[in-house]
Amino acid sequence: MTNCIPYFLFLFLLLVLLSLIAISYYIRGMVLSENESEHKEKLSATLSFIYVSIFAVVIAVLVFMWFLVKGTPYEGHLMEWLNIVVRLMHITFGIAWIGASFYFVFLENALNRTDNVRDELAGNLWAVHGGGFYYLEKYKIAPKEIPKQLHWFKYEAYFTWLSGFSLLFVVYYFNAKAFLIDPNVLNIAPLTGIAIGIGSLAAGWIIYDLLCKSPLVKKGIWFALTGFIFAAGFAFFYSKVFSSRAAYIHFGAMLGTIMAANVFFVIIPSQKAMVKAAKEGKELDASLGKNAGLRSLHNNYLTLPVLFVMISNHFPSTFGNQYAWIVLAAISLGLAGLKHWLNLREKGQLSVWVMPVSTLLLLAVAYMTAPQKLNKMSHGTIAFAEVNSIVQKRCVTCHSAKPTNPAFPAPPNGVIYDTPADIVKLKDKIMQRVVVTKTMPQNNQTNMTLEEREIIGAWIEQGGSIK
Ligand code: HEC
Repeated sequence: MTNCIPYFLFLFLLLVLLSLIAISYYIRGMVLSENESEHKEKLSATLSFIYVSIFAVVIAVLVFMWFLVKGTPYEGHLMEWLNIVVRLMHITFGIAWIGASFYFVFLENALNRTDNVRDELAGNLWAVHGGGFYYLEKYKIAPKEIPKQLHWFKYEAYFTWLSGFSLLFVVYYFNAKAFLIDPNVLNIAPLTGIAIGIGSLAAGWIIYDLLCKSPLVKKGIWFALTGFIFAAGFAFFYSKVFSSRAAYIHFGAMLGTIMAANVFFVIIPSQKAMVKAAKEGKELDASLGKNAGLRSLHNNYLTLPVLFVMISNHFPSTFGNQYAWIVLAAISLGLAGLKHWLNLREKGQLSVWVMPVSTLLLLAVAYMTAPQKLNKMSHGTIAFAEVNSIVQKRCVTCHSAKPTNPAFPAPPNGVIYDTPADIVKLKDKIMQRVVVTKTMPQNNQTNMTLEEREIIGAWIEQGGSIK
C-alpha cells in the first residue's frame, strides 16, 4: 500500500496543475472583457500569479513526497529526476543569461561609433543572423521618448540563480551527510553545514557590495586584486569546511550569487530609475548608468570562473588535489584573465602580456596537478587477490549491482566492482580516483588507508592483470 502513495501523489499533482490551468483560462476570459488598454497588464499579472502558485504547489508536493519516500528505493529515483529537471532548467536559464550578457558586451565593443552616426546616438551596428538583417542603434543617454515596448533582460538571471539554489538542495543539502560533509575535513552536523553554505552566499555578496561602495572601486587594479584575495579566501574557507566537490560548487555558487544580486539589487533598479527619470523628463543621473555598467563588467569577468566550477565536478584532478583551493583560485584568475584579453580584443586594443600570462597560469595548474611518480616496486610484486580484497572491502558497499550503502540505491555512475573483470576493465579510472586524486572512496567513507592506495597503484603500474 505504501508503495502506491507516490503514484497517488503524482496524480494529485496532475489534478492541481490541471485545475490551475482551468482557473487561469477562466480568469483570462474575465480580464479580456475589461478595458482594452489595461487588459494586457492585468492578464500578465494574473498569469504571473498563477505561475507562482503552480510553482509553490509543485515545491510543496515534492517536499511532501520526499518525506514519504525517504529511506525507500524511491528516494534515489525521486532525487535523480529532480536533479535532471532542475539541472536542465539551470543550464537553460544560464545559457540564456550568459548568452545575452556576452551578446551585449560584444555589441558595446563592436559598435560603429564614428561612421555616419546621428548626434543623439553612441553608435550603431549591422548584423546578419538566421537569414535576416538586423540594424541596431545605441543611444548616448536615452531616447526623447521611452518606447512603450521596452525589453528587459532580468528573468534569465533570476531563474538561473533560483534553479541553481534549488540544485544545491537537490545535490548537496538533502543528502548532506553523503555529499556536503566530509568528516575527514570537518566533522559537522548536516544542518550546520547547510547553514554555513547558505550563510556564506550572503556573506560573499555583502563583502563584495561593501567593496564596491568603498573608494577602492575607483582604483581598477587594486579593486581587482582585493576582490581576488577575498575570493581566494572563500576558496580556502570552503576547502576547510566541506567535501572537496561541495567546496568547489559553493565557490561557484557564491560568485554566481554575486552576479545575480548585481542584476537584482543594482543593475535593474538603476535602469528603472533611469527609465522613470526619462519618462518624467528629468535630468538623468549619470552615476546610475555608470554604476550599473561597472557591476555588469564585474559579472563579465566572473562568468568564466563560474562556468568552470559548474563543470569542475567532472574533473577530480582539480577538486581532488591536495591544494584544491589554490588550484581553484589559480584557474579562476587565469580564466578571468582570458576574458580580459577577449574584451580587449573585441575593442581592438593591443595587449601583449594578458593572454600569455593567463595561459601560463593555467598551464602551471595543469602541471601542478599532474600525478606524482610512484615507486612501483615499493610493495614487491602485487597479487591480484590482494587488490581484489581491498576493493571488496572499500568499494563494493557502493559500487555493486546491489549496493548495501543505503545512500546509493543503484551503483554510482554505473560503476561496479563485483567481479575481477570489472576491476581490470576500470583500472585507469581507479588509478585516477583512488591513487592520484584520492577522491574515492567518496569522502573516504570506508576508511581506505594510504598503504592500500599505494598497493593498488603499484599493481596497476606493474601491468594490472588478474594473474
Ligand atoms: C560511499 C560510496 C562510495 C564508495 C565506498 C566508493 N565510491 Fe566510487 N563513487 C561514488 C559516487 C557517489 C560516485 C559518483 C560521483 C563521483 O564521480 O565522484 C563514484 C564514482 C566513482 C568513479 C568514477 C566513475 C566515472 O564515471 O568517472 C570511480 C572510478 C570510482 N567511483 C571508483 C571507486 C573505487 C575504486 C572505490 C573503492 C576504493 C570507490 N569508488 C568507493 C561512491 C562511492
